[in-house]
Amino acid sequence: MDIAFRLNGETVELHDVAPTTTLLDWLREDRGLTGTKEGCNEGDCGACTVMITDADGARALNACILFLPQLDGKAVRTVEGIAAPDGTLHPVQRQMIDHHGSQCGFCTPGFIVAMATAHLNGATDHDVQLAGNLCRCTGYAPILRAARAAQGAPVPAHMRDAPLPNGQNTAGGDAAGGRGGQPPRHLHPANSDELARWYADHPDATLVAGATDVGLWVTKEFRDLGPLAFLNRCVDLRGITQDDDTIRIGAMTTLTELEVAMAPLHPSFAAMIRRYGSVQVRNAATIGGNIANGSPIGDGPPALIALGATLHLRRGDTRRRMPLEDFFLDYGRQDRAPGEFVEAIAIPRQRDSLRCYKLSKRFDQDISAVCGGLSITGDGTTITGARLAFGGMAATPRRAAHAEAAMIGQPWSEATIRAAMDGLTRDFTPLSDMRASAAYRMQTARNMLLRYFHDAGGAPVSVQGISA
Ligand SMILES: Cc1cc2nc3c(=O)[nH]c(=O)nc-3n(C[C@H](O)[C@H](O)[C@H](O)COP(=O)(O)OP(=O)(O)OC[C@H]3O[C@@H](n4cnc5c(N)ncnc54)[C@H](O)[C@@H]3O)c2cc1C
Ligand code: FES
Ligand code: FES
Repeated sequence: MDIAFRLNGETVELHDVAPTTTLLDWLREDRGLTGTKEGCNEGDCGACTVMITDADGARALNACILFLPQLDGKAVRTVEGIAAPDGTLHPVQRQMIDHHGSQCGFCTPGFIVAMATAHLNGATDHDVQLAGNLCRCTGYAPILRAARAAQGAPVPAHMRDAPLPNGQNTAGGDAAGGRGGQPPRHLHPANSDELARWYADHPDATLVAGATDVGLWVTKEFRDLGPLAFLNRCVDLRGITQDDDTIRIGAMTTLTELEVAMAPLHPSFAAMIRRYGSVQVRNAATIGGNIANGSPIGDGPPALIALGATLHLRRGDTRRRMPLEDFFLDYGRQDRAPGEFVEAIAIPRQRDSLRCYKLSKRFDQDISAVCGGLSITGDGTTITGARLAFGGMAATPRRAAHAEAAMIGQPWSEATIRAAMDGLTRDFTPLSDMRASAAYRMQTARNMLLRYFHDAGGAPVSVQGISA
């Protein structure tokens, strides 16, 4: 596979790259740029943070789970490119020194790149911006002080990277055909039509969207993934469009983009997304990947099911759609035919009655033990609609049919909610695992219904007020 991108201001062209080479390995082993560190090699610690710029702007990403083809046409800035070419330190570097923000220094390059990217973007919610960076020795207070002290300083000119002009990337060559007239083993399609044609003929291929799951199959499980299709050039699979009835979310829309779009419409969904992984993970992960992986503990599906989302699938020229909840058949089994891919998710426009409750052991950067997406509607006295969807309670994300039935047509009262809580015990038989016991899961899912009742009544129930 042939690709081109900018690296710390210089254009790099690579030919015949092994498509599952991670940016981290390439930087350290091929380029000798060892400032970018390997900590966990699975997206959790931020030691490998790099800044990636494309037409949509600059964002922090984890290099350990970023494959080289995902960089095609973009600009990469590593910690070696944060100081100015004449050696003048970046304001965040200066402040990290002045505020004693580093001890052993292993985490420091990742922090510096995350801080410099936030500084470039004018982001001042430092505890959010740095939640994906782990420091084992300094403690976060000096680092946060350094970030705050740097926030007013002008952005150094060299930080404003430009991606390669359109057409100067070289990925299209692979899409057109393989070497020596052979069909391409891997595809880097320019749009979803090209993807649809190829994937229908290569249904055994692995699709790579943000690679926040697929990356770990390589770095942790050392799997040979066979033929790959990288979706990052399919701009027609990205973005959110709205009309009077529907909000259509392209499969390649990142969680960061979804958070921004949901904030004015369904703020509780946006608040939950803020606890999904970290900035680096949300900047890579796509909603299509979060649904297609079929995880029982994915955070997107419960909220989307509660909103009555419809899933749009495509195979070749054939398209079909279904209620999102019908997609999840069983553990690891989804209603997706070979060669079929997720094109979009559509949410009906509605008055906001959604609440999302994510329970995990840590506030930041943790997988849910239980995640509830709850939407209850009524006419002021009687409940007329209830969509209660849970992750972590069964082998798939699922609606709670008995609990819903216990509410519909009943008065809006605590007694009704308590009857629905009892319904939940008939809906689910959760498992015990390292995240939570079955009893804890059932108790907390029941409590989510009660929490919704108090939340809707105006009682303060959010724990976000206690973030740093
Ligand atoms: C550090 C870390 C923290 C995380 N935290 C969370 C969290 O808090 N909550 C949570 O829910 N998840 C979390 N995840 C899991 C992961 O981020 C999500 O599952 C993510 O949304 C997957 O999207 P992706 O674009 O990265 O998918 P990829 O890894 O590219 O793909 C995932 C799967 O979906 C398939 N796929 C991708 N796009 C399509 C498509 N359009 N059509 C059909 N198949 C497709 C791929 O072939 C693959 O099987 C975390 C992951 C990491 C590494
Ligand atoms: S090495 Fe830990 S996030 Fe990449
Ligand atoms: S300074 Fe040692 S891990 Fe942060």
